[in-house]
Amino acid sequence: VLVDKGNHKHFMAKEIHEQPTVVAYALGHYIDQARNLVAEAAMNVDFSRADRIVLVACGTGHYACHVAKYWFEQVARVPVEIDIASEFRYRDPVLTGREVAIFVSQSGETADTLAALRHARGRVGRAVSVVNVPESSIARESDVALPILAGAEISVASTKAFTCQLTVLASLAILAGRQRGTIDTAGEQELVRALSSAPGALARALAIEADIAPFSMELARARDVLFLGRGSMYPLALEGALKLKELSYIHAEGYASGELKHGPIALIDEDVPVIVLAPRDALFEKTVSNMQEVMARGGRIVLVTDAEGARQAGNEAWATLVMPDVHPFIAPLVYAVPAQLIAYYSAMAKGTDVDQPRNLAKSVTVE
Ligand code: G6P
Repeated sequence: VLVDKGNHKHFMAKEIHEQPTVVAYALGHYIDQARNLVAEAAMNVDFSRADRIVLVACGTGHYACHVAKYWFEQVARVPVEIDIASEFRYRDPVLTGREVAIFVSQSGETADTLAALRHARGRVGRAVSVVNVPESSIARESDVALPILAGAEISVASTKAFTCQLTVLASLAILAGRQRGTIDTAGEQELVRALSSAPGALARALAIEADIAPFSMELARARDVLFLGRGSMYPLALEGALKLKELSYIHAEGYASGELKHGPIALIDEDVPVIVLAPRDALFEKTVSNMQEVMARGGRIVLVTDAEGARQAGNEAWATLVMPDVHPFIAPLVYAVPAQLIAYYSAMAKGTDVDQPRNLAKSVTVE
């Protein structure tokens, strides 16, 4: 395959900007756009008799699974376990033969995930893979392989594969809800319409790029950075921290906002920026009070929210990034953009090798 950077300085920038297009492409495959329903035939997975769902992956794919746990539980009311692939088989998981196990891997060649899949085959009800490379080992060895259709991802740090993995996992969660009778047709159509609005929302989210560049210069001077989020924004906080570590070598950690007071608050002072990913929702008030705890200790907050959230939070934050208003179901896809861009611009400010960070490999084929 011939792939170039187009007008972008790095593959990572190109891949971030491709997200509206590739997510739309994936949706074309998994969604029946004429009827606003998921395309059951494109997935070929039966969740109706599953006693639970097991989601297994490494790195960024693992955080996609973490988001999917919220979706499967909320939409299909089915218990979900998420596993880091390297832990899965060695802890000798309790398997009943009735679970749908889903293995998420961009490359389809990650040794830990492949070993987990091999352990699961024959022990779980169905082994499904969600992969970007349809000829890969993980795709070939699973019962059903679902392509994420992101196109070649060259940058070591995964970006468009993450949002395309989320697109497929969201479609699966809606399908599971239909099959298990936890959503009716109107409910399915509402979620599918929300999902169909993701490409447009991603395109609008990219407009915050201009706001991110200036404060990323500041961020690049930090030694430690915290990312906070609640609900499905918690995995995004983990992903934002991973991206920042990978690209800029700044120590970063993601926490559930409510957990701040149980430990990490001890780290807070004026030198530890705290990035809060918080679209306005029912729990926004609580997030604002978490922010006040940080500010009372001299901490600097970067609030990533929507217009209403920005209004409610006032202008106390060190920086506020105003995101488009989106349906809560797709917020994890859309908030991936600021998480990625913050890491990208911090890396540029530090002058690190964006597409090829030290010590990392695109695909890790040893356990
Ligand atoms: C490597 C990459 C990560 C990636 C992980 C899982 O560590 O550096 O960006 O998330 O592998 O890769 P996979 O291809 O299985 O999704």
